[in-house]
Parts: sequence; structure tokens; C-alpha cells
Amino acid sequence: MRGIILSGGSATRLRPCTKVTSKQLLPVYNKPMIYYPLNTLIKADIKEILIIVASECAGDYLNLLGSGHEFGVKFTYEIQDKPKGLAEAFIIGENFIDEENVCMILGDNIFEDDFSKDIKSFKKGGKVFAKKVKDPERFGVVKFNEDKKAVQIEEKPKKWISDYAITGLYIYDNRVVAAAKNVKPSVRGELEITDLHNFYLKKGELAVAMVKGEWLDAGTFDSLLEAQILAKNKLQDKLVI
Ligand code: DAU
Repeated sequence: MRGIILSGGSATRLRPCTKVTSKQLLPVYNKPMIYYPLNTLIKADIKEILIIVASECAGDYLNLLGSGHEFGVKFTYEIQDKPKGLAEAFIIGENFIDEENVCMILGDNIFEDDFSKDIKSFKKGGKVFAKKVKDPERFGVVKFNEDKKAVQIEEKPKKWISDYAITGLYIYDNRVVAAAKNVKPSVRGELEITDLHNFYLKKGELAVAMVKGEWLDAGTFDSLLEAQILAKNKLQDKLVI
């Protein structure tokens, strides 16, 4: 299993804090934000991790994280020239992923849960993780039928379909690279990760598990503040780096 942390984007919602550095390097309590998704991957024994960053901040990432030796892993870095969408990560990461399966986590997603078992036991298809939220219109959303089977997935639906957001941790088999190359830009001009979930959903090969503990996407000032509190109160004894 290869790991990817997608840590690009321009984070305009966090200006001026992100004017000279990347959102995912801002402090979340006592660690840079990216340490939390990095913990998720390292706990699951993933040893090869690709970090995708925007060119302006690449030097900051290298200075902070280096080769990965310090953490017992190997880091590879790639630049995403423009934030063209989450699914582009699998195109940028094609050579790195090689013939392996891949687990991608967003650099601003902070989880209380330990996903080691899900990641280590993954064999084929796709697996994503959902959480009930108050503001589903902000996320990729999954609708379940009466048997709790996922039946529909939509990116930021304008009309309510479900309260279950798909969080920023994705496990896919190697077919994801070819699938990503077939994704067409959405109306907002992005290669949507939701199209990749739907690629597997249509084949009946997408597992959707529930996130049990807290989950935050630290992309706004309010969620960043919540993330600081979560990190201080609940995450300290769960961190391995
Ligand atoms: O947080 C979970 C949500 O993340 C999912 O529910 C959605 O399905 C998914 O599309 C994504 O939605 P967001 O609106 O939160 O995506 P955002 O554009 O904020 O990007 C998420 C992170 O990925 C952010 O830290 C910046 C980074 N990013 C984003 C894009 C579009 C990149 O590194 N490159 C990109 O091209």
C-alpha cells in the first residue's frame, strides 16, 4: 500500500494566515496540521508516502519533513501546478503508485479514529469513510438505502440528499490511476474525487464505512479552532509522531 497526502491548494479562506505559507503547515495545537494525516498513514505502517504540494510552498515542506528518515518512512514530493481537483493526485502520483494499491488522505483532514485495520486489510475496489454532519452541502455526500447500502454519491449537492459526508481518507486499488485519467472537469472546473467513488460504486465495489470518532476538515477559521481543541483534548496520546 502506497500513501498520498494531498497538501496543495491556495487556502484563500484562511488569508492572511496562508499568504506566505501553506494551510497544512499552520499549527494545530502543538503540531503542524500535516502531522495529523501523516500520523494516520504512519500508524497503518505505510512506509512510502507521496506528498503533493503547491510550488510556492514546496521548500517549506522539504525543510519541515525532509526525507522521512526521522519518522521511519520515505517521502516523495510532487508539485501540483494548479489546484485542478483531488482526483488529479492519482495522475500526478502514477509513477509513485506503480502497481500498488493506494491510500490518500487530505492534508487538512484530522481524524480521531485509527484506520490501521481498514488500511492493512484492504484488498480490492474502493473504500471510503462517511460521517453524519450538520452541513452536508459543504462536502461529497453519500446516500444509503434501507439496507444501509450506499446508492448515490454527489459532490456538494445543492438539493439535500443525505446528512452523510464522505471524509478525506480514500483507499483504492490500482485501477484508480486509469479511472482518474478518464475524469472530466466538473462545472467548477475540478477533477472531482466523487467521480472516482462513483467509478467503484457503479461496479458494486465501493465499501463505505462509518467514522466513529471526531473528524474535522480544518479549512476554515472555525474548523481550525475546533481542530486545535480536538488535538489538545483528545489526540495527544494517539499520536505516534
Ligand atoms: O474534506 C472532505 C471533502 O474534501 C470531501 O467531502 C469532498 O468530496 C472533497 O471534494 C473535498 O471537498 P473540499 O471542498 O473540502 O475540497 P477542497 O477544495 O477544500 O480541498 C481539500 C483539500 O485538498 C485542501 O486541503 C486543499 C487540497 N487540494 C484541493 C484541490 C482542489 C489540493 O491539494 N489540490 C487541489 O487541486
